[in-house]
Amino acid sequence: MSDVWTAVDDWFGEVLALDDPGLSAALSRSDAAGLPAINVAPNQGRMLQILAEAVGARRILEIGTLGGYSTIWMARALPPDGRLVTLELDPRNAAVAAENIAGAGLADRVDILTGPAIETLERMVDVGEPPFDFTFIDADKPSNPEYFALALRLSRPGALIVVDNVVRGGAVVDPDGDASVQGVRRLHEALAREERVSATSVQTVGAKGYDGFTLIRVRT
Ligand code: SAH
Ligand code: DHB
Ligand code: MG
Repeated sequence: MSDVWTAVDDWFGEVLALDDPGLSAALSRSDAAGLPAINVAPNQGRMLQILAEAVGARRILEIGTLGGYSTIWMARALPPDGRLVTLELDPRNAAVAAENIAGAGLADRVDILTGPAIETLERMVDVGEPPFDFTFIDADKPSNPEYFALALRLSRPGALIVVDNVVRGGAVVDPDGDASVQGVRRLHEALAREERVSATSVQTVGAKGYDGFTLIRVRT
């Protein structure tokens, strides 16, 4: 990871005021609880918030909560009666996230559902969960194709879906890459075939290294 990428991210964070007590307390509490620092960077968090605001999101879905740092950014895009549903496998992470989200004053609009996300999403489809306006996919990377397919079923026309970590230092171009690379590659193959969406992928550098995200719009 390049020092200059980190210096620029730090400067953007300062000049754009991308930190506040709710966010910094969430990171401190996550660190104290032993969670890995694999949350989105502050500038990416603000990007997620802006995208959710741009589609007028009233219902947001997140796959992969960790300590709820990205959750806090996106929940801030919601009106007071909006909902964010976030899915997390590990109950210890979910417990830390619940504290962080409450600490940020957002407990009234966030539901954390614990368990394997594919099962939770299938249950949401089965019970006729109302559609989402915005989805952030950021859990185990091998399951990205399944998460995309289920998120698409749970999205309204015009909804956005963002997928994190689709570059992984460039490993994505290796046809023989590991299971995470295969998950990202199969996601892109599915996006190419799927006529109901328009999608692009963008490389990024920053404090979190060299990575990237996929931005998907469900057609109207
Ligand atoms: N979105 C968070 C970071 C998420 S890290 C942020 O930016 O702040 C990825 C999370 O996905 C981890 O907490 C991990 O426990 C969770 N995860 C991994 N496999 C999962 C699964 N099968 N179902 C649900 N969550 C899963
Ligand atoms: C990892 C996961 C993430 O979602 C991320 O943004 C960075 C790293 C990981 O599992 O290593
Ligand atoms: Mg991520």
